[in-house]
Amino acid sequence: TYSLKDRDVLTWLDFTQSDVSKLLALAQDVKENPYSNILSGKTLGMIFEKSSTRTRVSFEVGMVQLGGHATYLNTRDIQVGRGETIADTAKVLSGYVDAIMYRTSSHEKLQDLAENASIPVINGLCDKYHPCQALADIFTILELKGRLSGVKVVYIGDGNNVSHSLMIICAMMGMDITIVTPEGYEPDETIFNKSQAIAAEHQGAVKWSHDPETSVKEADVIYTDVWASMGQEEEAGERLTAFKAYQVNESLLSKAKEDVSFLHCLPAHREEEVTAEVIDGPHSAVFQQAENRLHVQKAILLSVIHG
Ligand code: CP
Ligand code: NVA
Repeated sequence: TYSLKDRDVLTWLDFTQSDVSKLLALAQDVKENPYSNILSGKTLGMIFEKSSTRTRVSFEVGMVQLGGHATYLNTRDIQVGRGETIADTAKVLSGYVDAIMYRTSSHEKLQDLAENASIPVINGLCDKYHPCQALADIFTILELKGRLSGVKVVYIGDGNNVSHSLMIICAMMGMDITIVTPEGYEPDETIFNKSQAIAAEHQGAVKWSHDPETSVKEADVIYTDVWASMGQEEEAGERLTAFKAYQVNESLLSKAKEDVSFLHCLPAHREEEVTAEVIDGPHSAVFQQAENRLHVQKAILLSVIHG
């Protein structure tokens, strides 16, 4: 009889396996049942410092479907863009809305907002983490494979925010994850070490490699993300060269399990990190994965706002 009411969702590092299992079960229930008026009169503030299609629409639609409301706050329009502090913004919004979702370039800013808000704060992507994406990812894997424990996930590409959150949540659920990157693009060492420690507690495994071909052997899931994240636009050219051998294509897929699934958080760049043949082919579950953002986030909103 514990509750996730009033909790911040910033990294999953402060959540237990049973917290995450509870969210997955609720997401399943939410996907099947409407919960139409449960957040009636409640408002989510959504602060965006970066572009978004999935996160923005799924959070807004999620609130509406639960009977509540969401307000979109672009940092170009609100006063933080003109120098009002994050702390003041957090305190002011706490008097109006019931939870805040924040997409920012800096984990420190996210922590600043969370520390100064008296309401739950949800990370809608920062430079280090993308927790809502990771929850949708394992929810999708559970749908596809019927289990999580022991499932072998191979992430190929940049050691970025998406890879970090995937690593943490897979470790927590006793899965087997390998992060495969070019040299110089490995995941954050601290987050990697924390993930390994979490995996050790849950009979999971967290590994890294520079070699896609040997890593994908026996893979149940192959995952990739863009080579240049938002904010890395000037590095796009050099990254294109550095990541060339890390494309997810038919030849790589054929070295995994026959029923391997392909996942990508989207947006995707066809013929860069993944070929059209793979992302639009029979192994791909990327649109199921994108839809699941809605269901898992409704579960998060219900848990932290309603309890
Ligand atoms: N996957 C994801 O977070 O997509 P958006 O950037 O469109 O929100
Ligand atoms: N790693 C990507 C994910 C986008 C959803 C980025 O940060 O831009």
